[in-house]
Amino acid sequence: MSSDFAFDDGLIQAARRAQRVVALSGAGISAESGIPTFRDAQKGLWAEFDPMELATPEAFERNPKFVWDWYAMRRQEMVEVEPNAGHYALANWAQRCSDFSVVTQNVDGLHQRAGSEQVIELHGSLLQVRCSAEEHKVVDDWLELPDEVPRCAHCEAYLRPNVVWFGEMLPMGALLRAEEVVATADLVLSIGTSSLVQPAAQLPYRALKAGVTVVEINPDETPLTADATYSLRGPAGQVLPALLAALSH
Ligand code: OAD
Repeated sequence: MSSDFAFDDGLIQAARRAQRVVALSGAGISAESGIPTFRDAQKGLWAEFDPMELATPEAFERNPKFVWDWYAMRRQEMVEVEPNAGHYALANWAQRCSDFSVVTQNVDGLHQRAGSEQVIELHGSLLQVRCSAEEHKVVDDWLELPDEVPRCAHCEAYLRPNVVWFGEMLPMGALLRAEEVVATADLVLSIGTSSLVQPAAQLPYRALKAGVTVVEINPDETPLTADATYSLRGPAGQVLPALLAALSH
């Protein structure tokens, strides 16, 4: 496969050797599937919608139906799109390693649909809902009602999207697993994230502190760019397949 990207020899050597790889992903990896990112100045979700009216527990308390419908609309958009070459490259990369984890801030399920097996979802999943009163009551299958938000079969509280909202804790199990895989990684990729939202943004810094190679893949610079071991400028759907092909030569 010919490639428009010239990769540093040191990067290729490190990536060829790596056996415990962690790919940290954000909204940018799904951009080429047609899902808008959050912070794009023109087309980003947070340019069009106010996150305080949609992605906080207070917003849901004030107007549950409005919030429920917005997430239902995003869920519908997500089932209509397909994983892209970036998602598939990560699923294929896993075949070369003893351990390959994806740690994602995305809630779209596209890594799993591309075939990635070990996916840690830091911000939950749009494909599930849960009881708004009992955090651990996650529901995969529910009945949509035309005029109201469906309720928990157990306690009658409203169901809500199983995603993390502003001001909420991340699911502790997922965060601990993410910290664990990063702590034992020998290569960390940071793909398609603005590296602004904590605690996800801290994870590459932990790896750097431990002397692990961190490779950023993003068309734009981020706060991580200056610190990353390598920073590859370009869309994930092009850079990742080209990098994977370069490893096999
Ligand atoms: P952002 O919208 O903040 O950042 C997306 C990043 O993807 C930007 O740095 C873009 O430059 C980059 N990008 C765009 N197209 C790309 C492409 N084709 N390939 C690679 N990179 C590309 O999204 P996140 O960093 O994921 O949280 O945002 C983190 C969290 O903030 C989200 O999970 C969400 C949001 O508010 C919650 O809703 C709690």
